[in-house]
Amino acid sequence: MQIIMETKPYASLETEAIVTPVFEADNPIQGRVAELDQNLGGLLKRLANAGELTGKSLEFTLLHAPGGLKAARLLLVGAGKREQFSAAVLRKIAGAALRSLKNKSLKNMAFLAAGVLPPAEEAQAFAEGMITADFETDKYKTDKKEKRVETVTLAGFPESEIRAAEKGLAAGKVIAESQNFTRDLVNEPSNKLTPRILAEKAEAMAKEAGLAVDILDEKKIAELKMGALLSVAQGSAEPPRVIVVTYTPANPKPGAPVIGLVGKAVTFDTGGISIKPADGMEKMKYDMAGGATMLGAIRALAALKPQVKVICVVPSTENMPGGRAQKPGDIQTAMSGKTIEVLNTDAEGRLILADAITYAKQLGVTHIVDAATLTGAIVVALANVNVGVFGSNQEFTDKLLASAKAAGEKMWQMPMDDEYREFIKGSFADIQNIGSGKGGGSITGAWFIREFAGDTPWIHLDIAGTAWNDDAKPWLAKGPTGVALRTLVHMVQTY
Ligand code: BES
Ligand code: MN
Ligand code: ZN
Repeated sequence: MQIIMETKPYASLETEAIVTPVFEADNPIQGRVAELDQNLGGLLKRLANAGELTGKSLEFTLLHAPGGLKAARLLLVGAGKREQFSAAVLRKIAGAALRSLKNKSLKNMAFLAAGVLPPAEEAQAFAEGMITADFETDKYKTDKKEKRVETVTLAGFPESEIRAAEKGLAAGKVIAESQNFTRDLVNEPSNKLTPRILAEKAEAMAKEAGLAVDILDEKKIAELKMGALLSVAQGSAEPPRVIVVTYTPANPKPGAPVIGLVGKAVTFDTGGISIKPADGMEKMKYDMAGGATMLGAIRALAALKPQVKVICVVPSTENMPGGRAQKPGDIQTAMSGKTIEVLNTDAEGRLILADAITYAKQLGVTHIVDAATLTGAIVVALANVNVGVFGSNQEFTDKLLASAKAAGEKMWQMPMDDEYREFIKGSFADIQNIGSGKGGGSITGAWFIREFAGDTPWIHLDIAGTAWNDDAKPWLAKGPTGVALRTLVHMVQTY
């Protein structure tokens, strides 16, 4: 799908459908909608009077052969109240319009800018909404629905705003395409995405994006004494990998941090010897979403070129109950030298992150963000709505939360009181990999990781509830969401 900007008056656009937002109000026939209504001889007014055109969010009204327009159809999309219009609303309505028209096998469409947000912001949100909505999970279907919208035109910006809008559009494209890169990885089943295959795909991405890449194989991982990662990997016939991708700015900002993006990439989590129930286990192919998010984020950053150095470290393994698998009670020595009592082999994400964080620090990162589908407990706490945010440094955490707001991603900070730290004190080793107290499962998981971050400012994003969409939304296919990528990109860009 290509997105182009058009300055011609919308009435002269030859397209299969023109889409315009309608704002909810006592009288929704205002501004451009009133203009269209005149051309349509008062039809929209009649629809509004009949209560069939209200502007309520995601209300769709499709008219054929609209008078006064060259377009074959006019789609009016409810955008909610004008005062509440935001980039997040625009992403949704634009995406929903695309999916709806795509379903009708349309090949092109034009969307009229709402003119409510600053032009760059509006164009960026538009591109993001369109490109993420266009993503399908039908890669392995042999009878793919060949429904593809080929061209989307963004129209309605005044001449004076075109330049700003073009910039926003370009950024939105890069970010959304990277988000889809992430979603594509997350969607891969574990037989098609082993740690070795993930490493190959990351390497190919890095080369294409002009990023430096280093893949640590099982030999190198052993040399580095990554005992925590190896303890998870030992149960599988597939060897582990650590993927390191580095973005170095041409002219780094003096005093800027070096950001470490560390992502959990368990390509399949059976739970190991502490095996998971069969029901729903297939979903555990998405247990590499954190790693895929970080790879997508650095892919976007390579194109956006912020003045901050970013090092992405992705530890990848399967978690399998093989004959050589680690067993509950086993004591492992992490790369940092800390000893870990593995009381539950299903709490494997924190083990692999421990060594990845130690390695990232060795590479010189000054600030760390990790993303992981870490706990079922975060789903209990925040459902599939908010990402759980944990941090060791409030200033850094506030920066991330501000970026989440700006990027329109819902995130909620969780507590990290010292009391929770007590839960993971080891009986027979330095620490244990699950909490001994009752409850607080995502907090004890976070504390475990924090032990390895030490004094380095650190944030942990638990995306177990938000990385996978169990039900399709009008603007998004069922499956991987690519959550947190936009926030991370925004954060790095605003240093
Ligand atoms: N990958 C899972 C977390 C998970 C669970 C994600 C459910 C999505 C849905 C993680 O490795 C895990 O198994 N965590 C355990 C930790 C427990 C053993 C302390 C969990 O949440 O049950
Ligand atoms: Mn697990
Ligand atoms: Zn897991």
